[in-house]
Amino acid sequence: MEKKNEKILILDFGGQYTQLIARRVREQHIYSEVIPFNMQSGKIKAMQPSGIILSGGPASVEQDGAPFCDPGIFTLGIPVLGICYGMQLTAKMLGGKVKKAKDREYGRTEVLPEDKSGLLKDTKDVTVCWMSHTWQVTEAPTGFKVTGSSANCPVAVMEDRDRKIYGVQFHPEVTHTEEGKTILRNFLYEVCDCAGDWTMDTYLETVVTAIRKTVGEEKVLLALSGGVDSAVTAALIQRAIGDNLVCVFVDHGLLRKNESEQVCSIFQDLFPVHFVRVDAASRFFADLKGVCDPEEKRHIIGKDFIEVFREKAAELGKIGYFAQGTIYPDVIESGQAVNASVIKSHHNVGGLPAELGFTELIEPLRLLFKDEVRSLGEKLGLPPELVCKQPFPGPGMAVRVVGEVTPEKVRIVQESDAIFREEIEKAGLTGMISQYFTVLTGARSVGVMGDERIYGNVIALRAVTTDDFMTADWVQLPYDVLCRVSQRIVNEMNDVCRIVLDITSKPPASIEWE
Ligand code: XMP
Repeated sequence: MEKKNEKILILDFGGQYTQLIARRVREQHIYSEVIPFNMQSGKIKAMQPSGIILSGGPASVEQDGAPFCDPGIFTLGIPVLGICYGMQLTAKMLGGKVKKAKDREYGRTEVLPEDKSGLLKDTKDVTVCWMSHTWQVTEAPTGFKVTGSSANCPVAVMEDRDRKIYGVQFHPEVTHTEEGKTILRNFLYEVCDCAGDWTMDTYLETVVTAIRKTVGEEKVLLALSGGVDSAVTAALIQRAIGDNLVCVFVDHGLLRKNESEQVCSIFQDLFPVHFVRVDAASRFFADLKGVCDPEEKRHIIGKDFIEVFREKAAELGKIGYFAQGTIYPDVIESGQAVNASVIKSHHNVGGLPAELGFTELIEPLRLLFKDEVRSLGEKLGLPPELVCKQPFPGPGMAVRVVGEVTPEKVRIVQESDAIFREEIEKAGLTGMISQYFTVLTGARSVGVMGDERIYGNVIALRAVTTDDFMTADWVQLPYDVLCRVSQRIVNEMNDVCRIVLDITSKPPASIEWE
């Protein structure tokens, strides 16, 4: 996929922003990959990167068991940029000094560039950077020049231009670092001498050719969920091999209101692929009867899904490959980024192909971040309502009904959720919220409807913003929108008498209620 010589490798020391670094590099049109911190320098050299970035991380270089990279990395002649922990590690391994700071430095910090001819080229005289550290470099190694400092951090930027080794104590990848983009750009284009030719158009072309070559005349089976990733995977493979792609859509009855119909109409009418819909709702509801434990629900849904899918696959005759919409964050988080192959892999993240007995797997989105997947979807002509869809959990509404799942309870969440979504859309807020939905809380509450006292359901509204779904903030929705949602749900639904708002961040709460 990627140009052989145009790649940045990011060594992952466990920092919360590692994936963000990779995305920021790609935003500058340079392909990037996250690799384990301890990859041997010989292997790194063989991958022919244009540059190496050492990520931040929670450890201190002075503590026992701190993660160290192969020292050979610093003698490959390939440019290196250490960020936060990565900078401290660089200093420690090359003979500098790292000490615990008197004051922990956290948040927006003014950095004063002392030399703007290298990493800090084109930055302001006082540049606002995002710091988050307790330890810091107090003495740069021999050969390094300190080119920037802050009030509490004497070595905020250090550069050894001869060896092309650089370090920044702050995080250029976060938007709070106002000139982070410029600083990264200086490293990528001035130091690493990149050309910047990574685009979705070239990716699309290369991946379509690669799929054709891998698959030949064989049939490919794809489990279509209706989500963005599997939909883009379908469109991409369809572009490559046409009717030899078979999409199986298992409708477990736990989707959002009208979602099943939407998926069918897109993939049968608008974007025709060989499409098979299996209506398996009654089977899922029967197996979920009486089950209240969230993990048990997930387990049953996963098991049923595999069984239904396996039965259908058996009816379809010989299938050569199984396709999956695995995306890069899944690969990184499951620790499989090493040896990640571009479109074909005998490993899998979700476990589905192994359960189904498939060994030949194609994962054409395996190297892409979510925003890249969406942009690829647009290029392939998928409709915006599908490409911009918010994420939806595999077990669907089952994790939004607290306790036992029944068709009636699922209907209540579906109806309330549809109203919530409609009002959010009408208010033009969709782009500002990462995920929003309603939950049937399981609580019952007294209310008065007409002249009657009722003991009705309590619906919770959940809306969050997040970068990576690992942490999230609740959204402060405008009162007038909340007011309309609340009024509409209680007016339009007889069995709901109270609406509450979930104002918990993650952590400690998860995004879903179950
Ligand atoms: P939590 O609730 O763990 O959710 O904070 C983080 C993100 O993951 C989604 N989610 C799931 N997705 N199967 C899925 O495919 C699941 O069992 C599952 N549980 C949570 C959730 O919607 C959110 O986007």
